[in-house]
Amino acid sequence: MRVSVGKWTKHKLMLENERLASFLPDTQYLNRTSLNTMLDKYNQIMVKPCNGFQGRGIIQISSLSNEQFVLHIERSETLINGKENIYDYLKENHFPRNRHRYIVQQRIPLATINNNPFDVRVMVQRKKDSLEWAVTGKLARVAANNFIVTNAAKAILSVENAIEISLVNNENIKDIVTDLEEVSLLIAGQLANSYTKKRVYGIDLGIDTEGKVWIIEANLTPAVSMFKLLNDGSYETIKSYKRG
Ligand SMILES: Nc1ncnc2c1ncn2[C@@H]1O[C@H](COP(=O)(O)OP(=O)(O)O)[C@@H](O)[C@H]1O
Ligand SMILES: [Mg+2]
Repeated sequence: MRVSVGKWTKHKLMLENERLASFLPDTQYLNRTSLNTMLDKYNQIMVKPCNGFQGRGIIQISSLSNEQFVLHIERSETLINGKENIYDYLKENHFPRNRHRYIVQQRIPLATINNNPFDVRVMVQRKKDSLEWAVTGKLARVAANNFIVTNAAKAILSVENAIEISLVNNENIKDIVTDLEEVSLLIAGQLANSYTKKRVYGIDLGIDTEGKVWIIEANLTPAVSMFKLLNDGSYETIKSYKRG
């Protein structure tokens, strides 16, 4: 059976694994009701197209006081009065007419570097005819100024370096890196039950200001060229796993 590759499907597949569940942000399928529920629960939420990529169409909504909300898309901000008006505003201005499948997710308070959030991409691969998953590369992407997504990256750093310069309390860098790798391997193992032919996953993970690791998404066709910039040998490792 062919399984959908959208963000909502993958979220539900990961949620089936108890250990992974503890790393997943609270996430719902978007409709008028779930948007209101999530706005009641969290100060900041992210609305993301199920089949989006490269950060396109992602909307961050932040609550101010007095039922005022800021919608942040790419680098522009819009103020909306009244929670009940947000869904209609999005529908009119941002959702495509024919296709609007979205998820709504609590925003993770991502650790920052010079005020710009960063997140982590971990490559997990297996060789042909092997069932053993390996971490073949990892890097940190810092969002460009005023962007809410890190896909428009201003800088690519090693994960260790990013943690070191971002977190005040960075004495547990090793533990965080262990979590990042362990969660990524677990995701590959879990999703492999459904996407049986896949040999590569590109896992997006967040690290919050307390050093806790969060799952942002699992990509089934991850780009590899950004690993060239690291010069740590990971690009070559990724290529060699791809060959088999
Ligand atoms: N829940 C979240 N909290 C904080 N930042 C997020 C969240 N979801 C997404 N982002 C930011 O947006 C970027 C793109 O989101 P992602 O889910 O990876 O969608 P895409 O498929 O467009 O890459 C992430 O790399 C991250 O920087
Ligand atoms: Mg992504």
